[in-house]
Amino acid sequence: MDAFVIEGGKPISGRFEVHGSKNAALPMLAAALLTDEPVELSDVPRLEDIANMLRLLGELGVGVSETDGQTRGGRTVKTHVTDTSLSHARYDIVRTMRAGVCVLGPMLARRGEARISMPGGCAIGPRPIDLHLKGLAALGASISLSNGDVVAKAPSGGLRGATVFLGGPFGSTVLGTANIMSAATLARGRTVIESAACEPEVVDLGRLLQSMGARISGLGTPRIVIDGVEQLGGASRRVMPDRIEAGTYAMAAAITKGELTIANWPVDALVGPFEMLRDAGVEIELSEHDPLDTTGGDSIRATAFVRRIGALRPVELTTQPFPGFPTDLQAQALALLTLADGNSIITEKIFPERFLHVAELLRMGAHVIRHGPTAVISGVPKLVGAPVMASDLRASAGLVLAGLAARGRTVVRRVYHLDRGYQRMDEYLNGLGADIQRINEKALEEVAVPA
Ligand code: EPU
Repeated sequence: MDAFVIEGGKPISGRFEVHGSKNAALPMLAAALLTDEPVELSDVPRLEDIANMLRLLGELGVGVSETDGQTRGGRTVKTHVTDTSLSHARYDIVRTMRAGVCVLGPMLARRGEARISMPGGCAIGPRPIDLHLKGLAALGASISLSNGDVVAKAPSGGLRGATVFLGGPFGSTVLGTANIMSAATLARGRTVIESAACEPEVVDLGRLLQSMGARISGLGTPRIVIDGVEQLGGASRRVMPDRIEAGTYAMAAAITKGELTIANWPVDALVGPFEMLRDAGVEIELSEHDPLDTTGGDSIRATAFVRRIGALRPVELTTQPFPGFPTDLQAQALALLTLADGNSIITEKIFPERFLHVAELLRMGAHVIRHGPTAVISGVPKLVGAPVMASDLRASAGLVLAGLAARGRTVVRRVYHLDRGYQRMDEYLNGLGADIQRINEKALEEVAVPA
């Protein structure tokens, strides 16, 4: 296992170009299962979760080939179904990546059957899939549990359209919406998803499905209507920029008092974090963006110039489904606000247990009190380096940001969590002025860490 050794206190400045989105690419790759023709995606990021998804697709009879992309470490991935007789997504793969669940809808729709290991919980709390299953059952699937696997079977005439309500105790479900929408593209008749997720990644998937021939309307709204078609064809699409990576790098500049130009900034997808950063006293200016262009094409991509000169102001924020502030930037925002001039309040409304980073930040001198889903952060003038442990992907990013700003040396262990969702973050940050060394944890004894 690798750890990051971070010498803090160096401003993050320069130019960074955002990669393609992990959470958009994952269900888009799974959509390959819906057609016998090739599907080509560009700007697919090089990440552990994506590698696992490609492995899973390989086990499900999908041939995968890749070529280098034209831009910064992205690549083009071409998928082509060669064997439709396979339908089992095994525990070994699904346990490493919950997003494996998004093969369920496409396999059921195209192959009439899907067997997928039931995903377990993870460090950010319980992760049920009851809404996915409820939606597929509404389309006529029979669902059973066997030996830890969910077994879903379509009725003999195939899935049939229905009205599906996807609202749960914490709002809609992103991958659940992706699953039902994908399955419904090949169902007989009309499916209406009520309380659908409005996240931009769902819209990106929907646009891919449309270019494969699916008939979908209402993308980006809580009511998506899908009229099933007989079959889907191949398509090509560029994956949207990763809004969470963009937001994380903006916060890296903000927490270190740097100046960062961020290209491929997905404007429409980042409204909540944009407001939050401005409220916190961070300057952000957008350029190369036409706010009047609503064609949904590349107009979503802008260049953001992020700079912090003065003190950080405290902020009150609540994580919410899109377009609210995303839960996937909560840990990073919390790390940033530990240095604000006053008291901030963060309430987590998507994953109320997602606060494992708090205990680690306390070790770095942060003042945070947690009451259930709410954290009260009393800003301190400085953080101090300490050995800390990453618990999940976004918590790791929060700890890295804290380490960049802290005085002295921070060692973040278990950065494999980070590698699941951030492409070579240590190398990119070093290119922007950071001092991060990636070392094997076995070598840690040789690194002096402040007590
Ligand atoms: N939920 C249910 N029942 C369900 C599904 C979800 O109660 O059947 C609850 C969840 O427990 C949670 C809420 O609904 O409280 C939202 O969960 P959702 O299903 O939307 O999450 P997801 O689709 O499994 C995706 C992202 C997550 C991101 C969430 C919320 C991917 C691969 N994952 O997960 O990303 O936090 O949406 O926006 O798209 C990450 O990238 O670090 C990450 C965890």
